[in-house]
Amino acid sequence: MNTLTNKRVLLGVSGSIAAYKSPDIVRRLQDLGAEVRVVITSGGREFVSERSLQTISKNKVHDNLWDKDAELSMGHIELAKWADIVIIAPASANTIAKLCHGKADDLLSTVILATSATVMIAPSMNQQMYASLAMKENLQLLKSRNVIIIEPGFGEQACGDVGEGRLAEPIDIAQQAAELFLSNSLSGKKVLITIGGTIEAIDPVRFISNHSSGKMGMSLAHACIQAGAKTTLVVGSISIEVERRAETIFVTSASEMYDAVMNNITSQDLFISCAAVADYRPSKVSLNKIKKTSSIKSIQLIENKDILASVCKLKDKPICIGFAAETENLISNAKHKLKNKKCDAIILNDISNSEIGLKSDENEVHFISEKNSEKIDKNSKQIIAEIIINKIAKYFF
Ligand SMILES: Cc1cc2nc3c(=O)[nH]c(=O)nc-3n(C[C@H](O)[C@H](O)[C@H](O)COP(=O)(O)O)c2cc1C
Repeated sequence: MNTLTNKRVLLGVSGSIAAYKSPDIVRRLQDLGAEVRVVITSGGREFVSERSLQTISKNKVHDNLWDKDAELSMGHIELAKWADIVIIAPASANTIAKLCHGKADDLLSTVILATSATVMIAPSMNQQMYASLAMKENLQLLKSRNVIIIEPGFGEQACGDVGEGRLAEPIDIAQQAAELFLSNSLSGKKVLITIGGTIEAIDPVRFISNHSSGKMGMSLAHACIQAGAKTTLVVGSISIEVERRAETIFVTSASEMYDAVMNNITSQDLFISCAAVADYRPSKVSLNKIKKTSSIKSIQLIENKDILASVCKLKDKPICIGFAAETENLISNAKHKLKNKKCDAIILNDISNSEIGLKSDENEVHFISEKNSEKIDKNSKQIIAEIIINKIAKYFF
């Protein structure tokens, strides 16, 4: 499973302004199951309190190569051996340069030289510093030594500049670390996922839609990418960020979603229909806003094409996985859907329970195929997604 469960992460915090985000990085790593210890440089200490890092990591923060107690037992060597992975986040320009030269003049740089664990760095600095030739060459050198670079983001910086050099998001840092421990169960496979709700226009301002947030679909997208799949998303109405590593096609209505899926389904190995697609749409879309005084008092509906059933009917169909959001007769309704649509498996969720399902961060589902019916106990949607993808890989690939 794609988590950091039982993994020991040594987080190095160096002197970038973004060090104030390091307690959040600790949290995100812990959320994925890691035990985290922190080494901080003197530069890092200028931007974040050791007390915060100590409280959140629930471990002493290591800051001193010359710590008398620690060095009795060779503290820097112990830390270097303890770690399954070392992540420097944020990595300052100075610390990056020190890594390039193999310097060992503080605890962090010494640990890096002494560790055999994988090292990841998340550069964070002013856009001009990041764009400098020295930085580019330094990063290139580190890459050639198998240091993994967590690319910084683009945007407004603490100094007011706009450009590349912002620390990657803490959640992305944690997830990229988790990816290192993956099984690559969908390596080389192509996956198409529909995500979110559809919007069916009534007139230029009104529509019929649903409460889908897109969280479950986006968690599946993360899980597929982490499992090594080339992932394409067809995304309707969502209230979350889009997974940037996937190719994404944005749509509004069910008809647009149908076209986007059909135009991109050839050569896919796996199709996951996770979107909450409207079964019906208004038969007529008024060009003008319908007035309160209008004689129209009801909306006539016509049926939308069934995307999942249509993909299942294709001659060279991919493995097709559907979602069934049910409120009653859960298992029998899901089995009926499996048979009716001729898909390979149905992920059933009980949306009558507000703690799980549509807008919630958690879910509890049943994985139902012709041969298997397995409950996946309540957990975060990300963990549920990883379990689903593991099952798909195990049963169908
Ligand atoms: C206010 C302020 C903000 C800074 N922000 C950054 C930064 O975002 N990234 C960076 O690489 N250096 C930044 N620096 C410079 C580093 O803190 C400095 O190079 C320091 O020596 C780094 O030490 P370290 O790499 O041992 O942690 C900043 C300095 C100051 C005074």
